[in-house]
Amino acid sequence: MPPPPPPPEYADKHMPDGYWGNPDVLEEGKAIFTGAQNIDVNCASCHGKDGKPVKAGARDFRQGEHMAKFSDAQWFWRISEGIKGTKMKAWKSKLSEEAIWKVIVFEASFGLPGQEYSVAEKKWVPAGTAKSAEEVASEPVKGEATEEAPTEEAPK
Ligand code: HEC
Repeated sequence: MPPPPPPPEYADKHMPDGYWGNPDVLEEGKAIFTGAQNIDVNCASCHGKDGKPVKAGARDFRQGEHMAKFSDAQWFWRISEGIKGTKMKAWKSKLSEEAIWKVIVFEASFGLPGQEYSVAEKKWVPAGTAKSAEEVASEPVKGEATEEAPTEEAPK
């Protein structure tokens, strides 16, 4: 099941420039995720150090196919607000926005290694290859250029 779209206040939240594919950010994200930075924030205690869940109900972050259904804004929303009625609580009181993005970079490395979310293309792509909105807008619409002129129908 694809996750619901994020509410309006989260729809335009996106990964800060220079975070995807940045080894320092990945390291910091790891320190947050594993509780090394702050023991009160220990994602790994449920989600596992390697993304393999250790608590029932936690999602398996190694499943790239499932992970890829989320946009960066959806991950950010889920981690900020948590998921009501589950063990997944809201983390925004314990983590800054930057810290949440760092943890997302680490979390994505389990199932989507070396990839980044392309906002303009609305999909995961190899890190460093995301197109800008302008590039996407200037691309020819698929099929437009190659489409053959309609053949006239023979008169009956
Ligand atoms: C006490 C256990 C627990 C802790 C700690 C925890 N989570 Fe979760 N998390 C869960 C559970 C359970 C779910 C699945 C909720 C559901 O959708 O049913 C979940 C879901 C998620 C999701 C959404 C995944 C999906 O497929 O819907 C994300 C993202 C996430 N957690 C990230 C984190 C991060 C980042 C941290 C640390 C800041 C964290 N979690 C800490 C238990 C936990």
